[in-house]
Amino acid sequence: MNVLILGAGGREHAFSLKLLESKKVKQLFVAPGNAGTHKIATNININPTDFEAVKKTVLENDIKMVLVGPEAPLVEGVHDFFLADNALKNIPVIGPKKDGALLEGSKDFSKKFMLKHGVPTARYQSFTKENLTAGFAFLETLAPPFVLKADGLAGGKGVLILNSLEEAKLELEEMVSNQKFGAASSTVVVEEFLKGIELSVFVLTDGKNYKILPSAKDYKRIGEGDAGLNTGGMGAISPVPFADAAFLNKVEELVVKPTIAGLQKDGIDYRGFIFIGLMNDNGNPSVVEYNVRMGDPETEVVLPRIDSDLFDLFEGVANQNLHEKSFSVTSKTATTVMLVSGGYPEAYQKNKEITGVETVEESIVFHAGTSIVDKKVFTSGGRVMAITSFGDSMEEALAKSYRSIDKIQFENMNYRKDIGFDLL
Ligand code: AMP
Ligand code: GLY
Repeated sequence: MNVLILGAGGREHAFSLKLLESKKVKQLFVAPGNAGTHKIATNININPTDFEAVKKTVLENDIKMVLVGPEAPLVEGVHDFFLADNALKNIPVIGPKKDGALLEGSKDFSKKFMLKHGVPTARYQSFTKENLTAGFAFLETLAPPFVLKADGLAGGKGVLILNSLEEAKLELEEMVSNQKFGAASSTVVVEEFLKGIELSVFVLTDGKNYKILPSAKDYKRIGEGDAGLNTGGMGAISPVPFADAAFLNKVEELVVKPTIAGLQKDGIDYRGFIFIGLMNDNGNPSVVEYNVRMGDPETEVVLPRIDSDLFDLFEGVANQNLHEKSFSVTSKTATTVMLVSGGYPEAYQKNKEITGVETVEESIVFHAGTSIVDKKVFTSGGRVMAITSFGDSMEEALAKSYRSIDKIQFENMNYRKDIGFDLL
């Protein structure tokens, strides 16, 4: 069977390698892909939110299943587009329709959903420029730090955490009245700050049945010791040592089950991944956010730990018999360290040649922002490659990732040398 993956990052390279392990996958296409997917699949240079171009790709290449990597095509309705088209409607799309994608596309929707279905999350209220004074009054009832979230997609930049009440009021006004994050911040969720340590749990669901995938912790800040600007993610670890069986059991009972049941009650036929961002406060989970896709770089540690046939699981999602599919995970630890361009996440240079990758033996190199020209690989994005390794312990896996990194070079390469530092 021919499969199409939409997306271009390390997540999509990891999905590609995993799907190609399946005997049922004949040919794999990635749109637009990167230099890593180019080596193992056919890249199609289209934009995943150009649905007519996606349709052409699907029909020309006899695609029988589509996996959507990033959130934008889901929030814009790629799955609905397939269902509304006679030539595409029988081709399963792994990823929710617009109604389910609102869990990520609207923070206000996702908070309402959690409240309605009893999923633990921070106390909140939503505001627009029409009720800004009520927003100021609500802020006054909260203790610092203050959390402001643009309702819509803001490229991971729409969350502000502020220490002073004055600053929080000013920023709230900037967001709703002056569109600090464009239309995404016409509505703003103001919520209580959650204490604890963050981790992510991933669920694959056919809308009724679910599999809980390995948990992971990512490192979002650019600097060591979790300092500096936020990034897309600088590294990740799976499993998360503090997420023990008792905690994960609470996550399943208090978060996963009510979420799946809530989707059903609300008539949302959800087929795909749910990425649950959680705070663990003394063993109690609280949901920070839902995403409607897998995380990046979390995918680069989660998928390698899955022993089962991922395509078979996707067929279970499409046919709503996920409960009949076998699912097993290795107990080994996987770590990944992201190599980024100097300057990232601010302005950075591209088109730097990358060398040494072929000498890496102990790790899997997942390409993220790379391109290929005349058989040479160049940087083409801020996050360039994720270096994933296995170990019996986190320390062993990390040592392998760092030894592998020593073999890779490009101008102004940067990476965090302390992934996992808080878990040792
Ligand atoms: P989000 O886009 O909702 O994941 O928010 C981005 C980041 O802000 C999260 O990964 C957390 O580190 C932090 N954050 C968001 N909401 C809260 C909260 N209520 N309390 C503490 N930290 C938060
Ligand atoms: N690594 C966080 C994300 O994919 O949103």
